[in-house]
Amino acid sequence: MQQDAPKAVDDAALNARFEARIEAGETIEPKDWMPERYRTQLIRMMSQHAHSEIVGMLPEGNWITRAPSLKRKMSLIAKVQDEAGHGLYIYCGTETLGVDRAELVDQLLTGKAKYSSIFNYPTLSWADMGVIGWFVDGAAIVNQTVLAKASYGPYARAMIRICKEENFHKKQGYEIMATLANGTPAQKAMAQDAVNRWWWPSLMMLGPSDANSPNTAELIKWRVKRKTNDELRQRFIDLTVPQAQAVDLTLPDPDLKYNEETGHWEHGPIDWDEFWAVVKGNGPCNRERLQARRDAHEKGAWVREAAAAYAAKHQPASASNAA
Ligand SMILES: [Fe+2]
Ligand SMILES: [Fe+2]
Repeated sequence: MQQDAPKAVDDAALNARFEARIEAGETIEPKDWMPERYRTQLIRMMSQHAHSEIVGMLPEGNWITRAPSLKRKMSLIAKVQDEAGHGLYIYCGTETLGVDRAELVDQLLTGKAKYSSIFNYPTLSWADMGVIGWFVDGAAIVNQTVLAKASYGPYARAMIRICKEENFHKKQGYEIMATLANGTPAQKAMAQDAVNRWWWPSLMMLGPSDANSPNTAELIKWRVKRKTNDELRQRFIDLTVPQAQAVDLTLPDPDLKYNEETGHWEHGPIDWDEFWAVVKGNGPCNRERLQARRDAHEKGAWVREAAAAYAAKHQPASASNAA
């Protein structure tokens, strides 16, 4: 116990300095001292984010072969590929915290790690490609624009770059919806049906309400998060309602009304039972999504082996001589 005492004092001093740096709005970099809890919370949050980008490729990948035109197919392929890039970029950021990517992927494949609840819903029509860009990328932008000011440097910088692409995804999705909404009655009905199915899950995607979000207070204190889930959700609703009105699509919430005093759109109750069921693995596509990732991982084994063999073969002579 006596030996531990000086370390505890050190940690307290380091901790105080860390808190002061956060308070001063400084950016924390990989080699800086950080509390273990800050590191593990960031690993949890960033890896969950990276997994979401990768699993998020599946619902849209489902429609690449069925896109209605070459132009739509090209932009959908590009979007799905962008999401892969986001995932890899955030995995790299997570690795700066001293965790191995193979371990993170393993956590996803074994179901230990979570990814965004929204990607456990099926994509039933082409309009879903539009509404995902509009709502899901739209909600991601609201979340990630704030994360671009996060206290951890590699995460914040990744978000700045990623948000530029997400903006493009959102515009692309909204343009698909505007086209369908101005098309034939059948196209308009397809667009409305997609809006009806994706609106509530998109609101849930921004996370449990503040009263039930155990990590929020700590993450806000450390300036990893800068806004609560409810604040982000409100911002997303306020941005999206006028966009829906502009293309004459109806958001499926009879309680949605504008509050003149607050300047915000008030919404009806969210079905949190549905959210928790999806988070716990019982959404419409949870099993299918994980199985698809496991299959892809297995089928990619030869690529990883080939890459490792290639890297070993091209190791500088000095490195192999040293062994
Ligand atoms: Fe993304
Ligand atoms: Fe995106």
